[in-house]
Amino acid sequence: MTGNNQTFILEFLLLGLPIPSEYQLLFNALFLAMYLTTLLGNLLIILLVRLDSHLHMPMYLFLSNLSFSDLCFSSVTIPKLLQNMHSQVPTISYAGCLTQLYFFMVFGDMESFLLVAMAYDRYVAICFPLHYTSIMSTKLCVSLVLLLWMLTIFHALLHTLLTARLSFCEKNVILHFFCDLPALLKLSCSDTFVNELMIFILGGIIIIIPFLLIGMSYVRIFFSILKVPSTQGIHKVFSTCGSHLSVVSLFYGTIIGLYLCPSSNNSTLKKTAMALMYTLVTPMLNPFIYSLRNRDIKRALIRVISSKKISL
Ligand SMILES: *[C@@H]1O[C@H](CO)[C@@H](O)[C@H](O)[C@H]1NC(C)=O
Repeated sequence: MTGNNQTFILEFLLLGLPIPSEYQLLFNALFLAMYLTTLLGNLLIILLVRLDSHLHMPMYLFLSNLSFSDLCFSSVTIPKLLQNMHSQVPTISYAGCLTQLYFFMVFGDMESFLLVAMAYDRYVAICFPLHYTSIMSTKLCVSLVLLLWMLTIFHALLHTLLTARLSFCEKNVILHFFCDLPALLKLSCSDTFVNELMIFILGGIIIIIPFLLIGMSYVRIFFSILKVPSTQGIHKVFSTCGSHLSVVSLFYGTIIGLYLCPSSNNSTLKKTAMALMYTLVTPMLNPFIYSLRNRDIKRALIRVISSKKISL
């Protein structure tokens, strides 16, 4: 190693949220309220799916997994953000930073994969309604979920290990509110070519392939409605796919807005706003999108509440 004047960074500064001090308290309260809503909403979905046997269907098991990922996804970044807004010097240790990076990727990938699983489930339900229960068996769902977890864990581990290999010299200010992979690579004083290549290749696979698969499922669903056009059929599709489509648009809309729209000017502010959108707003809205529009979930809620009343 040539760097003999190289000092190793033990801490990073997270300076990504340029909120004027007079608004600190307001934003702190707002973020806290949104985070608590996320926790409650997603826990409610998980509990309902667990307690109500009518919801023991692939679609709701996937939804419950999605809620779990949402809950963890915002817990990776938001509590640390809230804590940093309170402290004078918003620091995070090197180990903490890598841990955050790892779990951020695990739950972020999982969300994207689960949206594909849910799209496939809707595709089978609409295009092969008679074979639905035999195709989407419990065995298939469990293996699918396990496979997705293995893929996300492997992908996140690969990036984290590649990042752990890098050395960080004197720059330790991250212009973001959590340890994001691109932000960390910018600070490093080693060669980051391999890391960037992996982001390009695997990132493409992890975002584009799910997006294409979801698109394909919906194209097929669309053609299967066209074959037998009836208002009843269209209504059925919208009532079962509407929530899923809304979540998909919210998720991919932010990603596309962030990565594909050219932004050379004021990119830090835009990046921060977008990151708040997908770490705080999307996980908060997902349970509401599902529970407000979905008859099964509403019925399950009523059943669970009234059965509790009777048992009391
Ligand atoms: C996730 O999905 C699997 C397979 O369908 C299911 O067995 C499991 O209970 C789900 N996990 C949660 C937290 O809902």
